[in-house]
Amino acid sequence: MLYDNHGRKINYLRLAVTDRCNLRCFYCMPEKGIDFVKRQELLSYEEMERVVRVFAKMGINKVRLTGGEPFVRKGLMDFLWKLSEIEGLDALHLTTNGTLTAKLVPDLKALGITSVNLSIDSLDADRFKQITRRDSYEQVMETFHQLLENGIETKLNTVVMHGQNIDDIIPIIELTKEKNISVRFLEEMPFNGTGKKEDVKFWNQADILNHIKSHYSNLVKLQDPPHSTSQNYQVPGYAGSLGIIASYSRLFCGSCNRIRLTPTGTMKTCLYDNGVFNIKKMMRAGATDQDICTALLEALGNRAKDGFEAEGRRPLNNDISESMATIGG
Ligand code: 5AD
Ligand code: SF4
Repeated sequence: MLYDNHGRKINYLRLAVTDRCNLRCFYCMPEKGIDFVKRQELLSYEEMERVVRVFAKMGINKVRLTGGEPFVRKGLMDFLWKLSEIEGLDALHLTTNGTLTAKLVPDLKALGITSVNLSIDSLDADRFKQITRRDSYEQVMETFHQLLENGIETKLNTVVMHGQNIDDIIPIIELTKEKNISVRFLEEMPFNGTGKKEDVKFWNQADILNHIKSHYSNLVKLQDPPHSTSQNYQVPGYAGSLGIIASYSRLFCGSCNRIRLTPTGTMKTCLYDNGVFNIKKMMRAGATDQDICTALLEALGNRAKDGFEAEGRRPLNNDISESMATIGG
């Protein structure tokens, strides 16, 4: 079992397999993209597998693959199969934008994927295009249907943005009427790859909840699972549920059980930190598994208590302007 210096159990690794993406969601990266890293700077699949094996022995039993868009990286499915066979891992999750995923869903089912989070910020094709700067709505919806048809546990992620998709909130919740899915509304974070912030109203978790309650006055609060990042609710009689993720307000740090590995091997013990050590450099310099264990234990022994402390520890001239695709969503 792994614990940090604040007594939090750590059992969850978020592994970003690439910083590349075939969409350009404006809250994540600029139109021209970010400076994507070169292939040799990425952790290889072999290196990532080794890290997961070492971590699994230490107490990590849940892994989520993220990116960028994971399926933009060639060979991902073979890697998933390898991970699915690692002893000690009980749960293998995936976050995807759904553009390339539809035809792979039966394979995901076959390898026993635990659940899939699908990012979808609008149910309107034009708005979807405006937000993602690409015309992929149909492919994403096809992925959604495939996930449901194959009986894979599915969560939808929607970033809430003033002037963009406020009118989508209720229709997205309506999906939970018949479908046993969870739809989650995320506060927008500053990780947009530009360091700039549009001067528009910011929708925090309270604004989002008020908006939802003004439509569903009988909304019921559900009990949140132990390490949940979302505050969860249900419309009475609906099959699924909804959640609000205070990713900017950082309300969930007290029970945070997760660590992150970026595509270039930077270990993060918080979304908002600047990286605590680089595992790729260690491995390529000949580190043993024991060296990797020691480095992780040391980092967890000095973990910031929350995302505000982690942000405060960053070097002064280092703002939080990187893209979510670099950090790992
Ligand atoms: N703010 C909030 N959410 C973001 N995501 C990507 N960038 C941001 C941001 N700046 C979301 C993606 C995906 C999830 C992993 O993170 O839409 O659903
Ligand atoms: Fe791609 Fe996800 Fe970033 Fe959108 S939010 S550009 S889908 S990595």
